[in-house]
Amino acid sequence: MPKVPARSAEPWIPAGANLAQLESAVRNCEGCDLYRHATQAVFGAGRAGARIMMLGEQPGDREDVEGKPFVGPAGKLLDRALNASGIDRTGVYVTNTVKHFKFVERGKRRIHQKPTAPEIAACRPWLEAELSVVRPLVLVCLGATAAQAMLGRNFRITRERGRFVEHPLVRYVTSTAHPSSILRIPEPDRRHEEYRLFVEDLVQVREKLEELQGGRSA
Ligand code: URA
Ligand code: SF4
Repeated sequence: MPKVPARSAEPWIPAGANLAQLESAVRNCEGCDLYRHATQAVFGAGRAGARIMMLGEQPGDREDVEGKPFVGPAGKLLDRALNASGIDRTGVYVTNTVKHFKFVERGKRRIHQKPTAPEIAACRPWLEAELSVVRPLVLVCLGATAAQAMLGRNFRITRERGRFVEHPLVRYVTSTAHPSSILRIPEPDRRHEEYRLFVEDLVQVREKLEELQGGRSA
């Protein structure tokens, strides 16, 4: 059988673009089918030169409506944890592995669905463009989708979380839990414990950054 060519965002990415130009270009992307049902593409937020990049999975329901990453409940938890870890939020760029919300409709609710490996691969050029403009020192993968996109499909967060791995696209990649997975834990004790571990991982990120910058604060 002839092989179907892999889909890719590549043709929509303007060469040499800055973040604002990339953000307007992503609105036209048809690199995979996820643009068809989502309200809009959600690009990353933050400034070029941010030392830390946080990589989620995909925009959620709120993000899809507002057009900004991590503005819903998961984003609130992330902000609180960044604050608790002593990381300066203005030095953080946040984005997602795929830029369109993938969901199924159940009555009035839109239920998040995991992006597939071909969708993640199709969207990756946007992430590479963001990395080459922002040039962070540490990329923090939030959850398995981000970690597997950056570190390969055999990567297991449960086993490797908190480790710092050198990477061809960024000085260090590390991974931790996804804020949404913490919010979904029903028992308060376990949820608080997972939140505490999440903050602990972010403290490690701050310390790594301080080490890389020779003692200057993150
Ligand atoms: N979850 C994500 O992975 N990204 C967002 O932007 C919001 C929720
Ligand atoms: Fe393009 Fe990524 Fe959206 Fe697919 S998910 S249409 S590749 S921006």
